[in-house]
Amino acid sequence: MATRILRPSNLQPISRAFGSTRTHLHPQAPRDITSFLRTFSTTYRNHAPSTMSDALVQAAQARRTIYQLGKNSPVSDSKVEELVNAAILNVPSSFNTQSTRLVVVLREEHEKLWDIAIEAFGALVASGAVPEEVFKNQTLPKLQGFKAAHGTVLFYEDPAHIQGFKEKFSAYADKFEPWADHSNAMHQYFLWTALESVGFGANLQHYNPLIDAKVAEQWSLPAEWRLVAQLVFGSPEAQAGEKTQKPIEDRVKIFGKL
Ligand SMILES: Cc1cc2nc3c(=O)[nH]c(=O)nc-3n(C[C@H](O)[C@H](O)[C@H](O)COP(=O)(O)O)c2cc1C
Repeated sequence: MATRILRPSNLQPISRAFGSTRTHLHPQAPRDITSFLRTFSTTYRNHAPSTMSDALVQAAQARRTIYQLGKNSPVSDSKVEELVNAAILNVPSSFNTQSTRLVVVLREEHEKLWDIAIEAFGALVASGAVPEEVFKNQTLPKLQGFKAAHGTVLFYEDPAHIQGFKEKFSAYADKFEPWADHSNAMHQYFLWTALESVGFGANLQHYNPLIDAKVAEQWSLPAEWRLVAQLVFGSPEAQAGEKTQKPIEDRVKIFGKL
């Protein structure tokens, strides 16, 4: 039976930038993932090993889906770039294939992305594939909500980087694509958590493959890159919704525990 939970009790509600009332990390937790990791190697590893796991859990608890997003950025663009680079450098991939590609669009470029999605749906309405009422009442407001945010990270896979491995390790040939998707998802999770740790709100979307061709054309991206997901981020303008949890005991088994 599902259990309803509210916010984690060990998190302190503090007002965030831009008047948001969203819950943030504990005030004593490191402000963001990259500075935390930097500090960890010099401080936490030697003196307080539990602090690292506490901070990771707090960052994981603070990551939520936020749909109401605005255009204010709590950090500089360089900070966003730093986090994106940290993802690309530190997230693992099977056989170290490093096939994930990240594209970040900010401000007007971000708006162009969601205009592309709106136009793509417009074409589906024109062809009769999507009813006009559904588009007007559901899809369009949702897409306009994404457009109202500050930026989007586009997560791609470059198949060229797994092709050689498929041939070389033929016994695993059919595994390289799912493994690439696993690694891509790790990039998504890292950045979702990291962007929220610096004060953004974010939500994960999947408008691929509908928008792939137009997006590739707009930003001159290689046509063979496969779009996997879009992480929309901006100033959090509302709290995350309530979240139900299935019982832990149905989902976790530990053997050999003392
Ligand atoms: C693999 C994956 C795919 C998702 N796809 C979408 C999506 O296409 N659209 C969307 O609005 N949310 C999407 N979500 C968000 C989930 O609905 C959300 O994470 C879940 O309900 C738990 O809420 P939380 O993120 O606040 O913890 C996705 C999440 C994951 C992990």
